[in-house]
Amino acid sequence: MAEQFNYNSLFSANSRDTAPGNVRHSKYDFAVAYPDPANLPLEELIESVRAGFEREGRDLAYYSSPSGDPELRKLVAEKLARERNMNVTADDMVLTSGSGEAIGILIQALTDPGDVVLVEEFVYLGTLNQMRRYGADVVGVKCDDDGIIPEDLDSVITEQIGKGNNVKYLYTIPAFQNPLGWTMSLERRKQVLEVTGKHGIPIFEDDCYADLRFEGEDVTSFHSLDDTGRVVYAGSFSKIIAPGMRMGYLVAPKPVIARAWSFKSGGAVSQFTALAIAELMKGGLEHHIEVQNRALAAKRDAMVAALGENFGSAVEWTVPQGGLYCWVKFPEGTDLAAVQEEIFQEGVSYYNGSQFSPTGEGSNYVRLCFGHPSVETIHEGVAEFARILDRKKVFPG
Ligand SMILES: Cc1ncc(COP(=O)(O)O)c(C=O)c1O
Repeated sequence: MAEQFNYNSLFSANSRDTAPGNVRHSKYDFAVAYPDPANLPLEELIESVRAGFEREGRDLAYYSSPSGDPELRKLVAEKLARERNMNVTADDMVLTSGSGEAIGILIQALTDPGDVVLVEEFVYLGTLNQMRRYGADVVGVKCDDDGIIPEDLDSVITEQIGKGNNVKYLYTIPAFQNPLGWTMSLERRKQVLEVTGKHGIPIFEDDCYADLRFEGEDVTSFHSLDDTGRVVYAGSFSKIIAPGMRMGYLVAPKPVIARAWSFKSGGAVSQFTALAIAELMKGGLEHHIEVQNRALAAKRDAMVAALGENFGSAVEWTVPQGGLYCWVKFPEGTDLAAVQEEIFQEGVSYYNGSQFSPTGEGSNYVRLCFGHPSVETIHEGVAEFARILDRKKVFPG
């Protein structure tokens, strides 16, 4: 084979070795936050593509509006007004390649190396990674079952300001938090708004799980509780249709969008996908979400039952009213990070708590995702997980 050209001396100073790895699946996959392939609305999507093409297919000959399909933005704005009480129009948002891109460009627009950014004490690792990548000093705030603890938030901010640090924003996942599973109560949201307001700090609300409620009452969005433009908001179609759609959105005041936009590359999002989603929103999306949530409720029940059957009282877990995750606590000192790869090789995958922690603490926790496997697989997989932990004597059960 010919000697390969060497780029090493040519890479820019900002580039990093971050080649996308392949996602690895195990037999019992409780790690990935994917929907169940069996429940995707494929027929409805095929019909939506057809309807979208009949309506506007020939417009694919042009580059679409830089902010993304106006019709889809209008439909999203109407949904947010209806369901999240948000006073927004199509002009207040841009479509992004999943909410991951919305998060990435907003972080870049608001973060200089060394800035402090606040997050819940355990937080979605995609966001954590992006914050670290742009040099943020990520600081966790303590939480309980109602969400962020306002007193801790206040003292963390005061301490950071006291050290002369620049506290830039609070990033929160208030509905079915990833990985903790709770939904922040209305009272807490008001308190968190008050505390951050006192210090002049904006809130970045990542609401990608809001539609995945299968029990209890919705809590209104942070965005709806503020009329000063201090809350920016990201949403996604990944959890209500599929991550492969790569469609999300960022809602923010125009100057913030303008700054974030300067980091977007590749132009507008795919108009092909936008057409399909717009048609699905006019047709079967709501019904699909209801069907999916019924399936998720059964899977949550299966996971909770299986944990009860296979783990003793030394282990505790949350019972979320929506979303995709049970957060499981093992006795202090248990190290589920050390055995994660071995257990993956034996067929069970999970993420351990330290992966979600700004400080790297929490390896006695695991996040188990019940969205992807079937009810039967959940029962088998949790039993297998317990057997492996027992055999390896990972903790005194
Ligand atoms: C809290 C949270 N935000 C954002 C994302 C990114 O999702 P996507 O880019 O597919 O919209 C995820 C994915 O798991 C998530 O859990």
